[in-house]
Amino acid sequence: MKINYNIALSGFMGCGKTTVGLALSNKLGLPFIDLDCYIEKQQKLTISKIFQEYGEEHFRKLESLAVKDISKNVGYVIALGGGTILSPQNVEVLKKTGKILFLNEKKETLQERLKNDKKRPLIKNKRYISTIFENRYEKYLSSADLIITPSKNVSETCLKIENLIKKTQPV
Ligand code: S3P
Repeated sequence: MKINYNIALSGFMGCGKTTVGLALSNKLGLPFIDLDCYIEKQQKLTISKIFQEYGEEHFRKLESLAVKDISKNVGYVIALGGGTILSPQNVEVLKKTGKILFLNEKKETLQERLKNDKKRPLIKNKRYISTIFENRYEKYLSSADLIITPSKNVSETCLKIENLIKKTQPV
């Protein structure tokens, strides 16, 4: 399948953006970029450290700059951060050269997956997961060009995405 636009995977923390993104990029023969990794490499700091030392606002600026950089190219599978689509500007930039695909995972599944997470700064306190999810859900839906419910099996999820992409008009 020839794809000359980016496929940007969006969704809440723990929905599988990176895992599915990597598998999808292999399947489609497209290069893969993980937005958080891109920022970490560029800053030579972990996301946790960036939040800790400079705060969330600074992280969001770095995130927007990274979105702009990455969106200059086409033909990439991109794993966004869980909060990337909260900025309308990021959404606009991503849509210029790509499609946003929302991995619509159930809240309960996410809570279960994230309950022992120690790396993600926004959910240090597990009580907030549900509230953050509720606050964001509409934004994930409204910013998405494509929406799928991930399967338990990553290959199955990739197949669903491939089938959806086949039916989709290019950017
Ligand atoms: C965030 C999600 C994280 C990372 C940062 C902020 C968010 O990415 O970008 O901690 O606001 O949801 P993952 O969704 O890959 O965990």
